[in-house]
Amino acid sequence: MIDAKLLIQKAYEAQKLSYSPYSNFTVGAALLGASGKIYTGCNIENAAFTPTNCGERTAFFKAISEGEKEFTAIAIVGHKKGQNPGEGDYCAPCAVCRQVMAEFCDLDTFKVIIAKDYDDYLEYTLGELLPLAFTGKDID
Ligand code: THU
Repeated sequence: MIDAKLLIQKAYEAQKLSYSPYSNFTVGAALLGASGKIYTGCNIENAAFTPTNCGERTAFFKAISEGEKEFTAIAIVGHKKGQNPGEGDYCAPCAVCRQVMAEFCDLDTFKVIIAKDYDDYLEYTLGELLPLAFTGKDID
């Protein structure tokens, strides 16, 4: 059972740590591992732009580097600095983050929760957000 509201709350906590002086767009993510542990992440920008890491990937890389291998769901929140929950829009994961999710998550069962407030969210399977995914199976 996925506690979407708990994941969203953790994503909002992580969003507060966003390092985003260039875009002023703050993102937080909370990733639920099969172990039950939650890994959080925020976006981390860079003056050279391309080294910027999205909040979702920060959460995934933290989890993988700590030994978690299977995942159940991720909650994502994002809005401009100065906005509060409820004032922005749903923040859907970028295509690069969807591809990273496809490396580690089941397309049919992994849930992507995008929230614009603590209790206002949409839920998709990864397969819905990344149809015809290119994965490790394609290069077997
Ligand atoms: N960003 C994320 O963290 N996740 C996404 O899925 C979309 C974009 C970040 C990257 C950059 O720091 C800022 O949002 C503006 O693109």
